[in-house]
Amino acid sequence: MKNKLRVGVVGAGAVVREIYQYLYFQSEYSPLLEICAVADPNKENLQWFGNLAKLPDDRCFADYQKMLAEVELDAVQINTPDHLHCRPALDALAAGLDVVLPKPTAATVKDAHAMIQAAKEAGRYLGVDFHKREDPRIKEAEARFKGGRYGTFQTGVFYMIDKLLVADPNHSPRFFASPDFAERNTPVSFLTVHMADALMKITGLVPAQVRATGYSHKLPSLKPRAVNGYDLVDTEIVFTTGALAHVITGWALPNTAWAIAVQSGRMICSDGLLDLGLDTPGLREIHASGLSEANPLFRNFEKNGIVGGYGISSPGRLYQQILAHRNGAARDYETVAPDFYTTVILEAAEKSLAEGKKNEAGATRGEAIELGRFVRDQIGDAAARSYEL
Ligand SMILES: NC(=O)c1ccc[n+]([C@@H]2O[C@H](COP(=O)([O-])OP(=O)(O)OC[C@H]3O[C@@H](n4cnc5c(N)ncnc54)[C@H](O)[C@@H]3O)[C@@H](O)[C@H]2O)c1
Repeated sequence: MKNKLRVGVVGAGAVVREIYQYLYFQSEYSPLLEICAVADPNKENLQWFGNLAKLPDDRCFADYQKMLAEVELDAVQINTPDHLHCRPALDALAAGLDVVLPKPTAATVKDAHAMIQAAKEAGRYLGVDFHKREDPRIKEAEARFKGGRYGTFQTGVFYMIDKLLVADPNHSPRFFASPDFAERNTPVSFLTVHMADALMKITGLVPAQVRATGYSHKLPSLKPRAVNGYDLVDTEIVFTTGALAHVITGWALPNTAWAIAVQSGRMICSDGLLDLGLDTPGLREIHASGLSEANPLFRNFEKNGIVGGYGISSPGRLYQQILAHRNGAARDYETVAPDFYTTVILEAAEKSLAEGKKNEAGATRGEAIELGRFVRDQIGDAAARSYEL
């Protein structure tokens, strides 16, 4: 019986500094993980992580393929930018390894499908860290909703709006290392996927149509470096039941906001209403630097150095499932469809905006995208049907 997984880390950038370093070395899941190797073409990040993990030079690679060829591993965690999740995942699955990814599964429907298919064919585990799935408030909302307490979901609004400093390349220190982060990513890929996934976890609904509206006012006005991107995007999602949700995300809230992400959700149903106070988790501080709402539910530091919270337990549980799978437990494929739907919503919302019209006031009203047709065009009829689309 295996009690530890040999893990290779592919990509050691911001998300590893913010979250995964604690998972690997300071969490209740750390004893399950032996971090054996790292691969990252960025020398600085490679060296930082190699030192942190106390890895010898011959376990630090610029090229992940060399790592896969030279190091005996059970699993890899692929922390590369969204559009670079697919190739390393396919290579790792082909090498017989299990795979853990930060959200979203991939940037495109084709990539997400190829990865899910490869995992099924290889009989290996592909786990995506959508950490809101482990947020106790979302889990409780799901249990209550699925218990029938609120009746049929009709309509809802979810929002997640970051402080401007997240997207502003002029802010010092820069939030993300690359100055073009907010041009290479959108509020949809970075934020909408979290909220859409949370909503689908609570309701179990299948998305049918997406239409996005984007606003570009603040980002293009930034100085000295302007950002050619959206401040805010409202993604309308119609589900197969006819239920409608607006998922509103952005990253141009003044830096005086009470949290890095101001976020919440309201669901209106036939027999009741549900409010999620996601950014009022109970620890408000008045401090010389301002008034803020801390979220110890996401990440908290205990006296003994252990770091907990759903930011850690979400990927931690994926590793527990991998270990159980390696020890003979059947793979639970229940989570696979939502992993796919979030990428469908992401790509469709970006397509909706790309096909929309921008007015002189800086608003872009996107085209409606029928998801069944969109997905069939990408991956064919039979594959689309396997996701009930
Ligand atoms: N859990 C979350 O809420 C959360 C938060 C932030 C980011 N993310 C996700 O995490 C992923 C990484 O984001 P980030 O903010 O850390 O980006 P980042 O740009 O800071 O880091 C990405 C790292 O991947 C490396 N890389 C690029 N190509 C590579 C390759 N072929 N092989 C190995 N390494 C390679 C880069 O050099 C860099 O060090 C993205 O998918 C992002 O959406 C998730």
